[in-house]
Amino acid sequence: MIVLGIESSCDETCAAIVKDGTDILSSVIASQIDVHHKYGGVVPELASRMHVEAITPVVDEAINKANIILEDIDAVAATRGPGLIGALLVGFSFAKSFAFARQLPFAGVNHLEAHIYSLFLGNLKPEFPFIALVVSGGHTNIYHVTSYDHFELMGQTRDDAAGEAFDKVAKMLKLGYPGGPVIENLAKTKDPCVIKFPRALLEKGNFDFSFSGLKSSVARYIHDNPSFTKDEKAQIAASFQEAIIDVLSQKLIRAAQHKNCRRIGVSGGVSANKTFVNKLSQKAKYKKIDVFAPAIELCGDNAAMIAARGYTMVQQGQLCHLDHDVFSRTKID
Ligand code: KG4
Ligand code: ZN
Repeated sequence: MIVLGIESSCDETCAAIVKDGTDILSSVIASQIDVHHKYGGVVPELASRMHVEAITPVVDEAINKANIILEDIDAVAATRGPGLIGALLVGFSFAKSFAFARQLPFAGVNHLEAHIYSLFLGNLKPEFPFIALVVSGGHTNIYHVTSYDHFELMGQTRDDAAGEAFDKVAKMLKLGYPGGPVIENLAKTKDPCVIKFPRALLEKGNFDFSFSGLKSSVARYIHDNPSFTKDEKAQIAASFQEAIIDVLSQKLIRAAQHKNCRRIGVSGGVSANKTFVNKLSQKAKYKKIDVFAPAIELCGDNAAMIAARGYTMVQQGQLCHLDHDVFSRTKID
């Protein structure tokens, strides 16, 4: 079955063609980062307008790159939520009309479930059950995944998402947006244990996160040391990143032990952070737990993961109708 996937929940317009849920024939991502960069974050109204401009050329490109014709497409899947309402509406309405015009089944996909599905698009896939972390600019959620459509939410952030903390600290350090990749690069040259930033909610059995204290602590440090050198900037970046990695790794390994799982899968924009994935893998290895992460181009938002999740929904007859709408917030469980 050939599925056209469409994603437009935030600041990337994406389309992909995926065969049988795992074989990516094409994956096109039109990023709006250049536009939002100067505002230090995503401006929702601008995002919606840019999705409108990009959606048709992006879908055309995905079809051309996959070397297929319109008639080859068997089903359509698009992100239904969570995300920015105006942005979601563009991709969802486009997909709905496309499916209606061609009389194809249409699945409205949960963006967070789709991130977990990005783990099934590589050569090394986690077997069920496994612990999944979806860690991005909007979410830091831990799930116990027991089957293709059973995701038990074990914990989530009570304030900022981990990616959001990376972006806000990068802004404080005047490093630009998005903050994750810049901080990771800068941190590479420094000992991450020099400045001790706080780690929150580490008591046993608690799988929730809180990063606002860490963010405030970095802000206070910068306030108290206003004329920091480039070298000190890198030091702050390294110590901040270490605090995030420490909390994410500890919670994930404890969640795996709690559920007696031998596998952890990380997905979402922050899982592109190699320092995180390597440190987590090292720590997990001691506990005989394997760690899985998507290929770097599938860590952030993409439509291949939407098509992959859509494929199982279509197979199970979980379809959307013309009167179905998008949603901005949800949990999956
Ligand atoms: O999944 P994503 O592309 O979009 C959503 O938020 O849904 O994630 C974007 C987030 C941003 O906060 C960005 O700073 C973060 O992922 N990110 C990283 C890295 N690459 C992207 N965070 C840490 N290290 C990275 N290498
Ligand atoms: Zn995402």
